Amino acid sequence: MTAELFDPGTDALAAAPLALEPGACVLRGFAFDRAAALRRELDAVLAAAPLRHLVTPGGKPMSVATTNCGALGWVSDRAGYRYTASDPLSGRAWPPMPPSFYRLAVDAAARAGIAAFAPDACLINRYVPGARLTLHQDRDERRMDQPIVSVSLGLPAVFLWGGPKRSDRARRVPLVHGDVVVWGGPARLHHHGVLPLAEGEHPFMGACRINLTFRCAG
Ligand code: SIN
Ligand code: FE2
Repeated sequence: MTAELFDPGTDALAAAPLALEPGACVLRGFAFDRAAALRRELDAVLAAAPLRHLVTPGGKPMSVATTNCGALGWVSDRAGYRYTASDPLSGRAWPPMPPSFYRLAVDAAARAGIAAFAPDACLINRYVPGARLTLHQDRDERRMDQPIVSVSLGLPAVFLWGGPKRSDRARRVPLVHGDVVVWGGPARLHHHGVLPLAEGEHPFMGACRINLTFRCAG
């Protein structure tokens, strides 16, 4: 018998889901072994749809730089937040979601106990030191019955995990390269954010953190 037959696979070896609360968990290291493949695909996506600093509806540029891949992409401007089928910068469709991205999102959701996740949107966020994301809900998607799958690559960050109300106490969850957070069901509309990124240099991603957020938006 070959060793492969007994290889449980890296996903199975990754730590058991760490529950944040019903509907939400952290999968420590779930994306770690896939990071090299993700990185190659990411470079191609960023070449086709460059990162940019969107402005909030109030007119403030976001400290996080964003782009998208998949059928739909999340954008923000003076007119508000919404999903679009094309990149407003180029007028072309967003780059397709690479199969390795899609597979990771579906596998992570399954590991978190959610079958049949079918993401059609992947928001790509790049944080450089000092960049942050204030507490917010992900509520621009049509499908609230589908979860959010959020993949961390590069520099570590402190994720804020709050509650249904913005004023609910938010707990601080340290996230490192390869961690995946999944939230859905009763936790789907919980507030979350990211504290300002600390200075650092990641051996694999350089001086930044990349977050891939998968949603079913349409
Ligand atoms: C997001 O809320 O869209 C991103 C969260 C993160 O960067 O971890
Ligand atoms: Fe979010």
